[in-house]
Amino acid sequence: MTKTYHVKSFGCQMNVYDGERMAELMEAQGMTASDKADADLVILNTCHIRERAAEKVYSEIGRLRREDGSKPMIAVAGCVAQAEGAEIAKRAPSVDVVVGPQAYHRLPELLREAQGGAKALDTDMPAISKFGALPKRGTQPRPTAFLTVQEGCDKFCTYCVVPYTRGAEISRPWGALIDEAKALVDGGAKEITLLGQNVNAWEAEDDKGRQQGLDGLIRALADIPGLARIRYTTSHPNDMSEGLIAAHGEVPELMPFLHLPVQSGSDRILKAMNRSHTSASYLKLLDRVRAVRPDIALSGDFIVGFPGETEEDFEATLELVRATRYAQAFSFKYSPRPGTPAADMDDQIAPEVMDERLQRLQAQLNQDQQAFNAASVGRRCEILLERKGRHPGQLIGKSPWLQSVVVSHPDAAIGDLMTVDLKEAGPNSLAGEAVMREAA
Ligand code: 5AD
Ligand code: SF4
Repeated sequence: MTKTYHVKSFGCQMNVYDGERMAELMEAQGMTASDKADADLVILNTCHIRERAAEKVYSEIGRLRREDGSKPMIAVAGCVAQAEGAEIAKRAPSVDVVVGPQAYHRLPELLREAQGGAKALDTDMPAISKFGALPKRGTQPRPTAFLTVQEGCDKFCTYCVVPYTRGAEISRPWGALIDEAKALVDGGAKEITLLGQNVNAWEAEDDKGRQQGLDGLIRALADIPGLARIRYTTSHPNDMSEGLIAAHGEVPELMPFLHLPVQSGSDRILKAMNRSHTSASYLKLLDRVRAVRPDIALSGDFIVGFPGETEEDFEATLELVRATRYAQAFSFKYSPRPGTPAADMDDQIAPEVMDERLQRLQAQLNQDQQAFNAASVGRRCEILLERKGRHPGQLIGKSPWLQSVVVSHPDAAIGDLMTVDLKEAGPNSLAGEAVMREAA
């Protein structure tokens, strides 16, 4: 019988959330968490978004064999499981269970099947959501929690594998989300980050039968006593509704931070990516958000070296970056994903060209991030203390603008909201000085 488990999650925050739910599911079966090296069951919760993801999973599987020749029970979950399916168990016979992101509520059953010696596989995308079948959220105390509100994608950007691995856009129902948020707050959460591949496309009827968008959900969550902060990620420019923009100016709990991927600054490339927005429409959108929330910190995702990208196209990306001055950003080399339209496009870009462009882009983004942090020095703000710092007595919290802030204060505890003056900017964090401590 398997008694201990270990979940290793790769990739995005949604995978982190799924990993937590899998852990809760295993706990509900009476299992306890343990290290990877001695767990009876290891769940690899995989990511397929970029470079050689599947290869990494196979080498990770290989490393699970132990010195005495034994191996744990192995379940491969997540997007590689969805994309590769039965191939995984064929190529890596030590794998016992393969389960896709929409089927992991069936893990206990699949594990039982596999205990009989057979391989167990479920990569279905059932119409009925897995969420209803999962145990209620546990009450592991933690100040900041994720809540998946939306999954999947109908946008079909030509480079992206998500519509194939996570399936069509679905929104979780209103009542389930309010209940889960309340359970998280009861368990100690002061901040909730709403997650979805297209989180701002979320829509559902509320408890009075009115159609609501993400802004409506945010306003309702803001009314939950004890919930001090709300964030959401990741968004598509085309789903930034009037209402959501207005909420940034009106809901104090909604933090002044917006992750809004643009991918490229060249309209020609945006068209080839099937992004259905232009560089100008994106910049205009940012202006509208800034008009209601002037201190908003912006973040984005970029891909360099999309097929056909010329030096001129890339320059347009740099220009958009310089115009926006991101507080932080993620940038990637284009990676052809099997089965996506862009993988078959002519004019794939040479790796050296991608390397060089990525370096130039990251130099600009880093410079902007430093400038944003330096400009924050002198600000007074509240931080939510999340974890211990490197040195004794130090704690690290997040500013409203998602910067890491290090403080030392004898009375400070993880989970506290603390008012600080931002004193000094380092490359990845700021130093803060406590002004006063608020009752938790
Ligand atoms: N190659 C490189 N980056 C990609 N992303 C998505 N698909 C690819 C790909 N094929 C990036 C996008 C997206 C982020 C989550 O990952 O920038 O916003
Ligand atoms: Fe990776 Fe995307 Fe799947 Fe998240 S949703 S695990 S980023 S492929």
